[in-house]
Amino acid sequence: MMSDSTEYSIFVAAGPQVLESILKLVDGSKRLSIADTALNGEECLEKLAAADAGIAFIDFALPQISGVKVIEYLSTNHPEVISVLLSDRVNPEYFRSGMLAGAREFITLPVTTEELEFAVERVAQVAGAGKKSRSLTQTFETRPRPDARVIVVGSGKGGVGTSFVAANLAKLMADADPDLDVALVDLNCRANDLAVIVNVEPGKTLKDFVPVIADLDPALIRSVAQNVAKKLALFAAPPEAELAGLFTAEQLRLLIDGLRSCYDFVVIDSGAYADRAGASLHEAADLIMIILTPEILAVRGGKRFIDCLERFGISKNSMMAVINRWGPLSLSPERIAEYIGAPVMEKLPESDLVRLLLDEGRLLQAGDRSEVKHAFDQLIAAVRQKLSLGDGISVH
Ligand SMILES: Nc1ncnc2c1ncn2[C@@H]1O[C@H](COP(=O)(O)OP(=O)(O)OP(=O)(O)O)[C@@H](O)[C@H]1O
Ligand SMILES: [Mg+2]
Repeated sequence: MMSDSTEYSIFVAAGPQVLESILKLVDGSKRLSIADTALNGEECLEKLAAADAGIAFIDFALPQISGVKVIEYLSTNHPEVISVLLSDRVNPEYFRSGMLAGAREFITLPVTTEELEFAVERVAQVAGAGKKSRSLTQTFETRPRPDARVIVVGSGKGGVGTSFVAANLAKLMADADPDLDVALVDLNCRANDLAVIVNVEPGKTLKDFVPVIADLDPALIRSVAQNVAKKLALFAAPPEAELAGLFTAEQLRLLIDGLRSCYDFVVIDSGAYADRAGASLHEAADLIMIILTPEILAVRGGKRFIDCLERFGISKNSMMAVINRWGPLSLSPERIAEYIGAPVMEKLPESDLVRLLLDEGRLLQAGDRSEVKHAFDQLIAAVRQKLSLGDGISVH
């Protein structure tokens, strides 16, 4: 049972070998303790109800009732227990079935005590968000989306408002039509700001797609989605800035194809970068929105970004610049368009409301009447026109 110094009491159900290695690791930890153990599936279900454990480690190769079945049972009947799937073998298929069953984490042994502590801490922290994403999984409707549109929002210089624009664009598009499913994807390789901006504690992240990327299907995709609003799902970046190099060009293409099959609109924050692998993201986009502020360095950055995409063979026809933080004394949109050699789609005003929204983890809403919201309405109308969606809301 939990002593004063330990923070997490864990139930372990595993075959003898896996159990022994976990017991050794927990023995070496000041922060973990064992609530109880079971050597097979039946014993696990019997003992778990009585054990005072918030976290259950379940061996994939559990005798009698399989680990995945046990996790499925726990997800349905004891959603308050956080399930972690264990395996002493690396196998994407184990990972995939565990995730679909509702496991919050997948640990492949051997690991160190520190790694185990880290994993426990992570799942414990995100447990609330995990419950939310499970309910999203249950209500999501799967249907082919032949007309899905992918919008990549990027910039040539950091800090110009790319994440703010991407998040609010996705939110207002989802608000505008209850029939549309919208995904917001954090593919900025240096920061993981979108989860903060939309005020969601990410459970699963894009990193969880890596082992199963060649095998994505709607159920698997949904298991990584975090529910932000009714029809808006976030695909969060990993907590550490480790997205750079996480996906190859081909894997990015597979990711976008998978997202297209699940959502009507996919809005991707690609941050301020365009490398060879990242360019496959821009190639797959129906619209590339380049955010810049009306200052010379940001405009130069925007031009650099556009030139770089052109060198990768991407047509300017799919690019549009958006001026953020615009004020009456700023450089004019016409001059900016001329300098960057691409059309300017819209301008969003400099506004204290933006800082307030970001500070409070809030997004714009359909009923808002602010100047910023009005500018977003115009931006969305321009996006729809560019994507040949007309004035009507439905993309179908
Ligand atoms: N329209 C605006 N009016 C006032 N402030 C703004 C506006 N847009 C963005 N900001 C400010 O700029 C900051 C950066 O915004 P944001 O994080 O969206 O930029 P970013 O381009 O995604 O940055 P990064 O390169 O770090 O990812 C915000 O914290 C906010 O204070
Ligand atoms: Mg950002």
